[in-house]
Amino acid sequence: MSFDLVFFGGTGDLTWRKLMPALFQAFRHGKLPPGGRILAVARDQRSDDEYRAFIKERFGDVDSAKRPSDEEFARFAELLHYRRMDLSKPEDYAGLKGWLDARGADTVVLFLATSPHLFPAVCAQLGAVGLNGPNVRVVLEKPLGHDLASAQEINRAVSASFKEHQALRIDHYLGKPAVQNLAALRFGNTLFEPLWRRECIANIQITLAEELGVGTRGDFYDRTGCLRDMVQNHALQLLTMVAMEPPSRNDADAIRDEKLKVLRSLKPFTAESVARDVVRGQYRAGTAGGTKVPGYLEEVKVPAGSQTETFVALRTEVQNWRWAGVPFYLRTGKRLAARDAQIVINFRPTPHSIFPGPNRANKLVIKLQPEDGLELHLQAAKGSSQSETLAPVFLDLDFDKAFPSDRIGGYERLLMDAIAGRLNLFVRSDEQEQAWRWVEPILDAWQQDTTGPRPYAAGTWGPAAASALVARDGHAWAEEQ
Ligand code: BG6
Repeated sequence: MSFDLVFFGGTGDLTWRKLMPALFQAFRHGKLPPGGRILAVARDQRSDDEYRAFIKERFGDVDSAKRPSDEEFARFAELLHYRRMDLSKPEDYAGLKGWLDARGADTVVLFLATSPHLFPAVCAQLGAVGLNGPNVRVVLEKPLGHDLASAQEINRAVSASFKEHQALRIDHYLGKPAVQNLAALRFGNTLFEPLWRRECIANIQITLAEELGVGTRGDFYDRTGCLRDMVQNHALQLLTMVAMEPPSRNDADAIRDEKLKVLRSLKPFTAESVARDVVRGQYRAGTAGGTKVPGYLEEVKVPAGSQTETFVALRTEVQNWRWAGVPFYLRTGKRLAARDAQIVINFRPTPHSIFPGPNRANKLVIKLQPEDGLELHLQAAKGSSQSETLAPVFLDLDFDKAFPSDRIGGYERLLMDAIAGRLNLFVRSDEQEQAWRWVEPILDAWQQDTTGPRPYAAGTWGPAAASALVARDGHAWAEEQ
C-alpha cells in the first residue's frame, strides 16, 4: 500500500520534536509500509536536501537510544521531501495536489501540525482544490478550539470538506501502550469485570503529573492553561477508557459510542460545585530534579500577574448504574514532584476485618509513565505469628520487560494507524465537543472568581487543597496512602 504523508507545519516544533522521531522509529522497526513518501510543507524556501539536513540536525536533540546512525538516517532521509507553501494561496494547494496526483498513492494523509486557528482555512482550501477524495485523511492535532463554540467552528469547517471518518483527531495519550493495555485488561480478561463497579470500587484516581515547567512555551501556555491543555482531552479520554461499558466490537464507532456515553454521564458542574470540587494552582519557585527552578510568573513569555492555572485537581462522578456515587479524582499539573502518569483503582476494604492492624484495601495501579505496567496491591501474611498485622505486597507487571521489542510510542502508533485508516484511537467530533461542554462551566466559574489559582511550590504535589478535596470523602491520593 503506497502512501504520501504530508506535514503542514513541516518545520515546526511538533514535526521535528515528536512526529519525525516517531516516524523514524516506525521505519527502524520495519513498521512503515513500503512505498511511502513523507512531505513537509512550510513557508520558507528549502530544497529536499536542505530539509533533510535540518531534520538530521534536530535528531541530535532526541533521546540517544532513538537517534539514527548516519547510515540509518541516510536511508530514512530518502523518504523525506520538502515543498514551500503559502497556506493562504489557492495556487499552492493546486501545486501540492499536482505533486500528489503525479504519483497517485493509495493513501494520502494530511497532518495539520500548524496552529489550529489555520485549520478551517486549510480544510476549506483542501476541499476547494479536491484534496479530499476518498483516499485522503486529515489528521488534526490539539488544541482543537479553546471552548465549545470554537471547537464546533473547527468541526464545521472540517466537515464541509471531509467526512467524519476522514478526520482523525489526535489525542496522543490514546496512543500510549498502557492505554491500549487498559482496554485489554478490561475486555480481554474476565478477572476484573465483575469487580469493575460501584459495589467493589471506592474511588478512582487519574494523575498526569509532569516534573517540567512550561519551558519556552509560556505564551501558548498562558493563553491555554492546564484545564484546556490536559484535562479537556488527555485526562477525560483516560476517564472514558476506565469507565466505559464493554463495546460490542473492537471497532472505532462501537468504542467511541461507549466513550461518548461516559462523557454524557459526567456530573455537570455548577458555579457552586466548581468552587467545591475543583482546585486550580500555579507553581512558584521551588526545586525540580534537585535544581532550583523559577516560578510560573518568572518563566519567559508569561505576562506579569498571570492567573493561568498550571495545576488542576477535580472530583467528578459518572452518573450511571455502574458508577453512581464513586468519586473520580483527576489531577494534573506542571512542576510537580515527579513525572508520573497513572490510574489508580482503589477497591473497597473488606467489610469486616479479622486481622489486627489497619484494614487496607486492594488497589490496582495502571502505570502509563515513566514505566508502563500494572501493579496489583494485596494484603499478605508474613507467617511470623498468629497476631501479626497483614503486610502490603504487590504483583508487579512491567510491560517493557514482558514485551521488550514490541512496545511502540504513542505518536508512532497513531501515525501508523492514520496511514492504515484504523480509527479506534482517534477522537470523534461529538466526543470532543461533549468534553468541551463539560469543562466550560469550570472556565466560566473561574472567569467570575478573581481569587485566581492557589500557589504551590515547584517540586510538590500541588496545593494542599487538592489533598483536602480527596480527604473530604475519607480518601487520599496514592502517595499519601
Ligand atoms: C501535551 C501538552 O498535549 O501533552 C503538554 O500540550 C504536555 O503541555 C504533554 O507536556 C504531555 O505529554 P506526555 O506524553 O509527555 O505526558
